[in-house]
Amino acid sequence: MTTSDPFSSDPNDWNFRNAGVDIPIDPNLIAALAKEFLGSYDRSAGTEELVLSNAPSFPEGLSPEDPNRFVKSGPSFSFLEETRAFVNPSSAIQITDPFSFHPSLVPSVELSSGNFDLSYVRNDFPILQEKVNGRNLVWLDNAATTHKPQSVIDRLSYFYKHENSNIHRGAHTLAARATDAYESAREKVKQFLNSSSSEEIVLVRGATEAINLVAQTWGKKNIGKDDEILISWLEHHANIVPWQILCAEKGAKLKVIPVDETGQIILSEYQRLLTPRTKLVAFTQVSNALGTVTPVEAMTNQAHSIGAKVLVDGAQAVSHMRVDVQAIDCDFYVFSGHKVFAPTGIGVLYGKKEVLDTMPPWQGGGNMIQDVTFEKTVYQAAPFRFEAGTGNIADAVGLGAAIDYLNRIGMDRVAEYEHSLLEYGTTQLLRIPGLKLIGTAKDKAGVLSFVLDGFKTEDVGRYLAQEGIAVRSGHHCAQPILRRFGLESTVRPSLAIYNTCEDIDALINALFDLIGGRTSGPL
Ligand code: ALA
Repeated sequence: MTTSDPFSSDPNDWNFRNAGVDIPIDPNLIAALAKEFLGSYDRSAGTEELVLSNAPSFPEGLSPEDPNRFVKSGPSFSFLEETRAFVNPSSAIQITDPFSFHPSLVPSVELSSGNFDLSYVRNDFPILQEKVNGRNLVWLDNAATTHKPQSVIDRLSYFYKHENSNIHRGAHTLAARATDAYESAREKVKQFLNSSSSEEIVLVRGATEAINLVAQTWGKKNIGKDDEILISWLEHHANIVPWQILCAEKGAKLKVIPVDETGQIILSEYQRLLTPRTKLVAFTQVSNALGTVTPVEAMTNQAHSIGAKVLVDGAQAVSHMRVDVQAIDCDFYVFSGHKVFAPTGIGVLYGKKEVLDTMPPWQGGGNMIQDVTFEKTVYQAAPFRFEAGTGNIADAVGLGAAIDYLNRIGMDRVAEYEHSLLEYGTTQLLRIPGLKLIGTAKDKAGVLSFVLDGFKTEDVGRYLAQEGIAVRSGHHCAQPILRRFGLESTVRPSLAIYNTCEDIDALINALFDLIGGRTSGPL
């Protein structure tokens, strides 16, 4: 049996395709197997209570403190020792990333000598060739997510074809390859952020998970009744809600640093809000709704002067500018891979080593432990202490490939190019009668939020979508900052390195068409 839709959700259409041969699968057999499998997990049965006094003791002749207890006989790889991955990965692991020296798999990027022209990188992003509604796709929704270059797609495929295995465990070659690929990605993140050690890089699902991790570990330990957490008015919900939950639990206060009419943080107000009760300042480096770039270094410095810790949300910054966590001197920095040309489901928590080392674990399970007996568990040091269970191995490797890609272009070049696009986009948008830009701070990156007189934002978004132009219209998961400007939503074109002046021209022409104002002069 064959089907014309390889992704059909109808079980009757499910086939395994292998070497051109379709193997029909009996849906009844699948249902029977699923029932049998699920039946073995009877969640209603509850769990047995651990009776520690009756816990079995460690096998005779071995003690949990014996450092040789994991040593195995027979042929060995260095990665086979179960303790291997749980020391400083940069020193313990010979990084052998096949992609680092496989020129045919990593196309080298010929840099244009002309100023402000990175348009050639479009060819590296296959999805940009898509047609939408019969038109060329114009992707201006990069603040929501970015597309993936061919080298990242190839890297994922290579991983699954040649390296796929669980990591930090397993006595075989693929476990070594997968562990090396994963730890190599951690090392690349370390360099990308200019962290001083890969022990400071925790791999998580995304910026949201990273912030929740800090709230539930560092926060639970260090925030008490009447303590204060400062956030800014610019924050994404991911940097508001975890702190609200923590404050409610601890009886602490959440205070908000106001912004001015341009959408920039008012530093004098920030200074006024910092008190000896302030334990943490958590704020974004780039606003996802307005594009404001905040003065991270000055704000971090001021927070430290009163003894508060600092968390910077870098989700919207990392794809637009060089980030140096040592220069910022923040205690935590978080970002999501998918905003920086890497896959979804992988992200980063950077934490200063001396801070991570004081934090209790968040989730318990495999990988985060050094030794488990029924009486007691000894945890690993950071970063592994915070990586319970099997992580998103392949997508971490994909993140490493995305960083390689950006490194070949150079973040300073990216920042310069995007700044020119932003200036061009701003000038062109202001030609549209009745258009008001929301977010006009002097220091901005990547975002051109606006409202249009006489049009609902969702109608503008829908019209642009018909024209093949993807923008986000809505509240952008940042309702407080839009309400600060008396709005519930905006239309938000947002930029990345593969956008061009032609993309912006397409947007402007479509907006002129929409308002029926071609007389103002199309481009
Ligand atoms: N945080 C993402 C955005 O700004 C989803 O659109």
